[in-house]
Amino acid sequence: MRLKDKRVFITGAGGGIGRATALKCAAEGALVITCDIDADAAGETVRAVMRAGGEAVAVVADLTNEEACNMAFANGAAAFGGIDVIFNNAGVCLTGDDGPVETDLAVWNRTIAVNLTSVFLCCKAGIPYLLQAGQGVIVNNASIVAYVGSAFPQIAYTAAKGGVLAMTREIAVMYARKGLRAVAICPGPTATPLVKAFLADDEAWRLRRRHLPMGRLGQPEEIANLVAFLASDEASFITGSAYTIDGGLTSAYVIDDKD
Ligand SMILES: NC(=O)c1ccc[n+]([C@@H]2O[C@H](COP(=O)([O-])OP(=O)(O)OC[C@H]3O[C@@H](n4cnc5c(N)ncnc54)[C@H](O)[C@@H]3O)[C@@H](O)[C@H]2O)c1
Repeated sequence: MRLKDKRVFITGAGGGIGRATALKCAAEGALVITCDIDADAAGETVRAVMRAGGEAVAVVADLTNEEACNMAFANGAAAFGGIDVIFNNAGVCLTGDDGPVETDLAVWNRTIAVNLTSVFLCCKAGIPYLLQAGQGVIVNNASIVAYVGSAFPQIAYTAAKGGVLAMTREIAVMYARKGLRAVAICPGPTATPLVKAFLADDEAWRLRRRHLPMGRLGQPEEIANLVAFLASDEASFITGSAYTIDGGLTSAYVIDDKD
């Protein structure tokens, strides 16, 4: 078991990638703290972990709020006597996040708050626990949009994810000799509620599928497998880097879309 007795704090654990990662980490022997703004969703993930024979507790917080965030980490650490791994995964794509000219400041602010500021606040609240535990790991969920632009933009989401990558590097370098690793993952389109909502119509899917070498979305479980590896001691020499997991999307130039 890769994560035997590791205490893993997962944000956005009520949703697609977060829930799949909670299940994967628990299957690898971890004690999981599922954190989400949605209490029912966080609780459902706990029940799913327990049905599978694992151990988990839920904590509820809007992670854009510093006090709520601090409380979530304190309660999570109290549940299992500390925290070894943080998976910063909570995120949103908001309607109205568009080009720089079209996007309202309110949409920009909330998108940056959830996708970037919350990662900062979770690092601020969580790093002391990781240092206390020794051999701590932070895995930040960015996105391929941190690397490639889109003609159908989400300017705030993209800027936030670029910020997550830069923050990951800074934390990695700062703590490299203090027993703490920080890595990022950059998933391509993955079959979760977040993406299914904006790929709901056939035209939106057709437009994107032709840019996907594999011609399909990733599955949350495929992303969870990468997170579990990066969080484990098997990845002990990995810090500061970002791992693209996108079915070849960012490697592609011309795609044969006949199949
Ligand atoms: N699905 C994709 O294609 C894809 C691709 C690249 C990156 N990502 C990233 O993966 C992460 C997870 O996305 P997903 O697709 O599983 O989405 P999802 O909507 O299924 O899950 C996101 C979770 O975050 C929670 N959340 C939202 N705001 C919060 C807040 N303020 N505080 C606490 N929790 C909050 C939601 O309640 C939800 O459970 C996000 O950071 C997203 O940007 C997703």
